[in-house]
Amino acid sequence: MQRLDKALADALNWTRSDIRNAIKQKRVSVNHHIVSDFGVKVSQHDHIMFDDEQVNLVHHEVIMVHKPIGVVCSSVDPKYPTVFEYFKLSPKLYHMVGRLDQDTSGLLLLTTNGQLTHQLMNPAKKVEKHYQVVLREPISHKAIQQLESGVDIGDEKACEPAKVVVMDATTIVLIIHEGRYHQVKRMLQAVKNEVLELHRSQIGSLTLDGVEVGSWRECTKEEIMSLKQG
Ligand code: URA
Repeated sequence: MQRLDKALADALNWTRSDIRNAIKQKRVSVNHHIVSDFGVKVSQHDHIMFDDEQVNLVHHEVIMVHKPIGVVCSSVDPKYPTVFEYFKLSPKLYHMVGRLDQDTSGLLLLTTNGQLTHQLMNPAKKVEKHYQVVLREPISHKAIQQLESGVDIGDEKACEPAKVVVMDATTIVLIIHEGRYHQVKRMLQAVKNEVLELHRSQIGSLTLDGVEVGSWRECTKEEIMSLKQG
């Protein structure tokens, strides 16, 4: 059980004093009764409404979201909705595991476990990420060889060798385990091609598996275990 003002401040990423003002303005109900006591004790089993929205106090260790194009992976943005705003998740509670560009869709993990973020982001752990890539030009044999032997994208070190699965002339699945800035776009640019569409379909053994674009679900214990074990 926790105090209502703290629980709401954490869940909604508001300050406690703003939450108290909202409670004074009779905008909060618990179990269908408007409350005036900031300190009333609540738990995840209570039905809490803020204006017209139900507030979920349950925090999951790891969730997978299906990020749409046009949503950004940062905590504030002047132009686009952030992942936290779009999925109504508190940036105080959840860390993003890596990032996807604004114009990339697909699988993104968020976790309340900072250590797990660190582990999954560590290139030495070699967690594979699968990207479906639509290209401007047909993929050449030479480009595949370059990508698979470790392409130089102008960083201090060349990229680690990638795996390339050719779907059709202009669609590939690129499998990498690093997470450099704009890595996939830069890898394809380095082999004289251009990414037109980018979608992350898999991280380790986790796939979106029925999670529709714009929605999210909690990862199962088995999925979390497989991420932790690499
Ligand atoms: N590589 C990119 O270029 N963009 C992404 O969003 C992810 C990987």
